[in-house]
Amino acid sequence: MAEKSYAHKRSEKQPDICLQGKGNMGTGISFNLGLTNQHLLPCAGGYLLVEGGSKKKFPQFLRELESKGIDPGEIRYLFITHHHEDHAGFAALLREISGCRIIVHKEAVKPLEEGKCAVTGGGIINWRVVFSGFGFYVLSKGVRMFFSPVKLGDADFIIEKDDNELLRSLGVPGKILCTPGHSPDSISLLLDEGSCFCGDAAFNLMHWLGHRYCMPLVSDMESSYRSWRKMIREGASTIYPSHGNPIPREKLEQNMDYFKQEDLVLTKVLPKLVDIFFS
Ligand SMILES: [Fe+2]
Repeated sequence: MAEKSYAHKRSEKQPDICLQGKGNMGTGISFNLGLTNQHLLPCAGGYLLVEGGSKKKFPQFLRELESKGIDPGEIRYLFITHHHEDHAGFAALLREISGCRIIVHKEAVKPLEEGKCAVTGGGIINWRVVFSGFGFYVLSKGVRMFFSPVKLGDADFIIEKDDNELLRSLGVPGKILCTPGHSPDSISLLLDEGSCFCGDAAFNLMHWLGHRYCMPLVSDMESSYRSWRKMIREGASTIYPSHGNPIPREKLEQNMDYFKQEDLVLTKVLPKLVDIFFS
């Protein structure tokens, strides 16, 4: 079969959307794959991709790239906000065809290398989420506990603390913030112009669940709000969650500290339930 050529489309390549925010770096390509948003940000020599979504969505991801005239080889870096399957599920496949270098938090290394989501305590924000069938909704979108293991090597970037240099050295004007709460390995990418890609550190779908912009599954509630404060303090004006539409900073400010750690439900049985439903 003839090799696909993307070169003819390159001159027509246009960002799908302008990322909302202040300043003038605000261009990138955003698209939604089922449940998870992906973002391609320009970097030196190609693109940095935020999120390596569900494995099931990989063929769709490749079609999206092709329709935008982008060769997978142009993806030089993959920024994984945390190790969950809908954020890291096709990382191994993407690496195979693009050779991209991966940026992750050190707490994500073990679960990525095992190819298994780690449930690290915490609970669900309220009973409405439990009785709403939210878990079945997520399952129906193809999110699972297991994914192709991702072997990390010397060429990858393992983040241990906030970092104001790495992204700049790769041609992306921004910084990396550690934003735990949903999971201990959560990191966010904050552009200087105010756009902040936060993975599941915030959530903007199905407001009837009463989640107040918190992901329904939280490992530590207080860390979660500390992470919101950090994003705002560091200059985030528009927060891009991996699930749902962008969130203006003010919405996080208005809902800060709404839940307490002791409000979480199913804290004792959560790991068992997740194992049963997502295996
Ligand atoms: Fe997650």
